[in-house]
Amino acid sequence: MPLRSHDWFLRSGQAGFKARSRMKNQGTPQEMFDGRPVIGICNTWSELTPCNAQLRILAEHVKRGVLEAGGFPLEFPVMSLGETLMRPTTMLYRNLVSMDVEESIRANPLDAAVLLVGCDKTTPAAIMGACSVDIPSIVVTSGPMLNGKFQGRDIGAGTDKFRFTEEWRSGNMSSADYIEAETCMSRSDGHCMTMGTASSMACVVEALGLMLPGGAAIPAPDARRRRHCHYTGNRIVEMAQENLKPSKILTRRAFENAIVVNAAIGGSTNVILHLLAIAGRVGVDLCLDDFDRLGAEIPLLVNLKPSGDFLMEEFYYAGGLPVVMQNLGEIIDLDAITVTGRSQAENTAGAVCYDRQVIAPLEEPFQEQAGIAVLRGNLCPDGAVIKPSAASPQLLQHRGPALVFESLTDFLARIDDPDLDVDENTVLVLQNVGPKGFPGMPEVGNMSLPRKLLDRGLRDLLRLSDGRMSGTAYGAVVLHIAPEAAVGGTLALVQTGDMIELDVPARRLHLDVPPEELARRRHCWLPATDDSARGYTRIFLDHAQQADRGVDFDVLVGGSGAGVVATSDAQAEAV
Ligand code: FES
Repeated sequence: MPLRSHDWFLRSGQAGFKARSRMKNQGTPQEMFDGRPVIGICNTWSELTPCNAQLRILAEHVKRGVLEAGGFPLEFPVMSLGETLMRPTTMLYRNLVSMDVEESIRANPLDAAVLLVGCDKTTPAAIMGACSVDIPSIVVTSGPMLNGKFQGRDIGAGTDKFRFTEEWRSGNMSSADYIEAETCMSRSDGHCMTMGTASSMACVVEALGLMLPGGAAIPAPDARRRRHCHYTGNRIVEMAQENLKPSKILTRRAFENAIVVNAAIGGSTNVILHLLAIAGRVGVDLCLDDFDRLGAEIPLLVNLKPSGDFLMEEFYYAGGLPVVMQNLGEIIDLDAITVTGRSQAENTAGAVCYDRQVIAPLEEPFQEQAGIAVLRGNLCPDGAVIKPSAASPQLLQHRGPALVFESLTDFLARIDDPDLDVDENTVLVLQNVGPKGFPGMPEVGNMSLPRKLLDRGLRDLLRLSDGRMSGTAYGAVVLHIAPEAAVGGTLALVQTGDMIELDVPARRLHLDVPPEELARRRHCWLPATDDSARGYTRIFLDHAQQADRGVDFDVLVGGSGAGVVATSDAQAEAV
């Protein structure tokens, strides 16, 4: 079968000479240019992204697998997105990395790609880019870290950081213990080992069919992850020969499976944005309401933090995602095709659950109705989301007065003010942290509670914003309100003291202010324009869509395929 790399490496004359000769300065033997599949290993490794730091090692194991299967592996770097260091937020750059991946793949002589990812946004970014080129692609993640170990108990990244911070702020934890906990939390290679966004995305990618079975949960330092990489290298060579492209795997049914799985694992709300964006790249008409329709009633089958008790290490030892997929067999479409060339049913046929405390059967779930609820109402005409499984049950139906913060800066300046007028009925409202309001939509929706309430032992309040929440976070937190405040959504019109009603069973979020008063406020509202933004931020502000469209750029939706002008060489000879 002709491969796209042949157009570079099998040419005669100057074009072929140039393409092959310079590759030989890396010691590449002539035999590599015999028409074998060229496999791009797209690496988001970076020392600035500690979650992805071992991807250099994993890339070597992928290469071994590619070589063994008769392919020609070529590793290349793309921009990396490290959740813990990048400011203002990695989400600002997700679309940029997707462009980097898309253009790097298309411009080079690659027949297939292995996407090496891990930390939250690196996974969707790489998949979005690969989908817009649509050459055979397969995903490998860095894998979850080993469990944190602190003072004799297991601790999880993110989730326990939030808990420790609240305990430390309220004086129940010493500064020495707080510092010691940060050392104990991150003790191996890998990404967050809670069911945060990275682990959720890894599971969702496996559910989509873009990863070899069982790959999502293997702990980062476990030798079986290296073997998984080796087999991935083997398989991608076959995929190149079979031309098994993302568009053949990512059908609407694959996305529906992913939505159900994200609910069953107690997955991150960020997955909603990423799945919407990926679906847009492959032309699948997924919408926000699909997440409620398909996921809200799904029971929780995985007992992992932040919704449960355990961490990814136990999840892997219990059998991992293949067991969950098998347990969901009545609900999901196990006929969906995957990167193996086989169906999910075939992939998961031999799965065995080794620990019922970690993975439950469908008939005895850890919790009923674990999926994400999509809210509507005058406060969110284009939708908002809440993760009921991570919220205090008594706040899922609540009416209370708003306490409004106009920006993150305003919030940080006032939240611990001893004179703040706040009690357990208050609804914290944070404006202008949406896609355009705080470019990139930061993970600040789970606002920390006022110190005066923490001191009284309160650990949850109803909180609303147009921002996001870390997948490792928890609480009664309404997120992704659309349209956002910065573009004139109703959220911009909320004032302190307004009554807000949340009714999750009825899927309703309502601002109890008469329409004529809202119209008056809207008439007076002025957008905060930022004409000074330039470069990539300017592009983001001009093109990012709202949360209900996955925050992808309007100009990136869809794909352009793998075709390029063959060569700009004046004396290009035929293949
Ligand atoms: Fe990288 Fe959580 S910070 S996965």
